[in-house]
Amino acid sequence: MTQTSSNGFTDRSVPPTVAVRLTVNGQEQQLQLDPRVSLLDALREHLHLTGTKKGCDHGQCGACTVHVNGTRINSCLSLAVTHDGDEITTIEGLGRPEQLHPMQAAFVECDGFQCGYCTPGQIMAAVATLDEIGRGVPSHVTEDLNDVAYSDLEVRERMSGNICRCAAYPNIVQAVRQVHDGGAE
Ligand code: FES
Ligand code: FES
Repeated sequence: MTQTSSNGFTDRSVPPTVAVRLTVNGQEQQLQLDPRVSLLDALREHLHLTGTKKGCDHGQCGACTVHVNGTRINSCLSLAVTHDGDEITTIEGLGRPEQLHPMQAAFVECDGFQCGYCTPGQIMAAVATLDEIGRGVPSHVTEDLNDVAYSDLEVRERMSGNICRCAAYPNIVQAVRQVHDGGAE
């Protein structure tokens, strides 16, 4: 399919756009997108939700982690058009500055970040990690598949796709443990 430019010539370099309906942080959004746009770029460039970070843009760092219908994904690896009708939660939808999500508060209390660039992805992954353990979803290090129990090892394994160049890992694990235990240490 081609589009006609203002000079009347057919421009084969302009791809057609596709209508996409997303519910992002509880708000319905109607977008008209180039089908090559990733979910990450749709969030950042089209909806101006810049809390979700672009690190590698290749599925290697986890900075772009968001929840889609309750499951975490790397949004840089997913085309926005494949999410028509989906519910997306970004770091902006998890809590508010005046009312932080417990995981956001724990990262602050436990000093779980330094530069903070990886932090939105870490927090989205951490929330998903506790949810997965709570639902009994096993990981590579789970010994008893019938009894998926919380441990720091489980957290490290499940968070291993989220890279922190500042190496705030011990404090991140501490923050996740604090939320799991249900309060401040
Ligand atoms: S930006 Fe998506 S995994 Fe790095
Ligand atoms: S806090 Fe800097 S990359 Fe994680």
